[in-house]
Amino acid sequence: MRSRTLGTTGPAVSALGLGCMGMSALYGEADRAESVATIHAALEAGITLLDTGDFYGMGHNELLIGEALREAGPGARDNAVISVKFGALRDAAGGWHGYDGRPSAVKNFLAYSLQRLGTDHVDVYRLSRLDPEVPIEETVGAIAEEVQAGRVRHIGLSEVGAETIRRAAATAPVCDLQIEYSLFSRGVEEEILPVCRELGIGVTAYGVLSRGLLSGHWTRDRELGAGDFRGASPRFSGENLERNLDLVDALRKVAGQKDVTVAQAAIAWVLSRGEDVVPLVGARRRDRLAEALGALDVTLGPADLAAIEEAVPADAVAGERYPAAQLAHMDSERG
Ligand SMILES: NC(=O)c1ccc[n+]([C@@H]2O[C@H](COP(=O)([O-])OP(=O)(O)OC[C@H]3O[C@@H](n4cnc5c(N)ncnc54)[C@H](OP(=O)(O)O)[C@@H]3O)[C@@H](O)[C@H]2O)c1
Repeated sequence: MRSRTLGTTGPAVSALGLGCMGMSALYGEADRAESVATIHAALEAGITLLDTGDFYGMGHNELLIGEALREAGPGARDNAVISVKFGALRDAAGGWHGYDGRPSAVKNFLAYSLQRLGTDHVDVYRLSRLDPEVPIEETVGAIAEEVQAGRVRHIGLSEVGAETIRRAAATAPVCDLQIEYSLFSRGVEEEILPVCRELGIGVTAYGVLSRGLLSGHWTRDRELGAGDFRGASPRFSGENLERNLDLVDALRKVAGQKDVTVAQAAIAWVLSRGEDVVPLVGARRRDRLAEALGALDVTLGPADLAAIEEAVPADAVAGERYPAAQLAHMDSERG
């Protein structure tokens, strides 16, 4: 497995990370045994970066990862780089109630995550969305205290914009920014990616398959269960879905010429953005993981990249990446 480093101060990680969210939340039912088997297959393939959030299934995802690492045997935890997002406030019915980035909350969230993961430290710890009531310096300062205490190894960020990135990096070393980045979501290229590069901060790209829309496996008639994020996502609805799947068909032709799948082309494109970009793949089944891993063998030359970007031009996607109510609270969308 090739490796990449998260920024100038972060750990070396596998060039592809495994995002575990869909194993617990937001994409409908997942099979627990298959989820654990997928994590094991990822570790066996050399994936070291495991991404989670304490609010994915209200702790379910962390418990799952903890179980998978224990079952994988001695050394599995130490070889893994666990990235945890915190801060989202939930209720037992799955509701969302804002974000809490207060220093006391940081320490409280972390204490519970360590218990659920069954570990004494988190490798990368990050606030999932900026808390508008709490200056980023206070949140990052509290994580920095946990770094001093040895309970966190590195500080990350998630879905924040250029100014917040600068303020956070001026407070303590930040290894990476986690943000949506794909052929369908290229907003980061304008300002956020250049600022990360200027400051030596890596990018952990999520949604590289646009939550399955850009995977080649999405169908127009797919039924979504209650609580599936995609049921409320503008890109998956009505005419937008039609237009977006036309783009996927255009990409399928280019991918076919290289004898790779749509998902592999989409992941390889993100890998081609630079050594400082690490795509997370949201596989929750072993067959999906195997397909995603195949992207590591895909080399995209200038002609391939041009053909891919002609099939899916930068601004061609129809619909925003989140429902309007969520976008309104995202610091990364403020420019
Ligand atoms: N920081 C943030 O704000 C934030 C937000 C969202 C996610 N994340 C993190 O990023 C990770 C990845 O995000 P994501 O799950 O939305 O990303 P994604 O990789 O774009 O989408 C994953 C979905 O694509 C489908 N898929 C089809 N073929 C696939 C293949 N070969 N490999 C992988 N998936 C395939 C899967 O659906 P089926 O299982 O139905 O096939 C899966 O549910 C999450 O798990 C989470 O850790 C972070």
